Amino acid sequence: MKITYYGHSCFGLETEGTHLLFDPFITPNSLASSVDVSGIKADYILISHGHEDHVADAVDIAKRTGALVIGAFEIAGWFAEKGVEKTHGMNLGGGMDFPFGRVKFVKAVHSSVLPDGTYGGNPGGFVLSLPGKTVYYAGDTALTLDMKLLAESFDIDLAFLPIGDNFTMGVDDAIKAAKFVECNKVIGMHYDTFPPIRIDKAAAVKKFSDADVELTLMDVGQTNDV
Ligand code: NI
Ligand code: MN
Repeated sequence: MKITYYGHSCFGLETEGTHLLFDPFITPNSLASSVDVSGIKADYILISHGHEDHVADAVDIAKRTGALVIGAFEIAGWFAEKGVEKTHGMNLGGGMDFPFGRVKFVKAVHSSVLPDGTYGGNPGGFVLSLPGKTVYYAGDTALTLDMKLLAESFDIDLAFLPIGDNFTMGVDDAIKAAKFVECNKVIGMHYDTFPPIRIDKAAAVKKFSDADVELTLMDVGQTNDV
């Protein structure tokens, strides 16, 4: 499995030749100005919620690639209205088998409205059961006890957690979230993009490490084999 970071909460995940893309927000992100959006591959685009900093490039990438957009029922409807051909709506607690693996849409404690004011339904995260790996992509969320339920049903190998504070969990709560989902490998997201979410990266890595959790903060454009 390969993971590529495109800044903020946007990651590409390649699993057995299938390209998944999460929450594309690239062209408005000055920290991601080195990314060539037109070169990003996507077979599936997963959208955690409707906020601009999670959907900005999604319509364009979906139209260019023909990717299937997966998200809350209301989000899928919005993409279809924007002319995206393939969409798949879900709602909280529901899972679905796709050719690349199973996706469960799980609770996030946040809000969700699309950039034009359209209601975005409930925000969420995804648990992906992929060949050989189970991955949790939390989306934007507060710490919530519901995360403990994920550890009961899944053996999560890798968790993408927001760590930037202000709009989502900060570092201390993200460490608790890692404990709740019983995962000791975390990829940080949703930090540094805007002034209220700038963090001390070295301090964050140390705090996680002191709690026996490995925090990886990827450089924009970096690809990691996991
Ligand atoms: Ni948000
Ligand atoms: Mn956000």
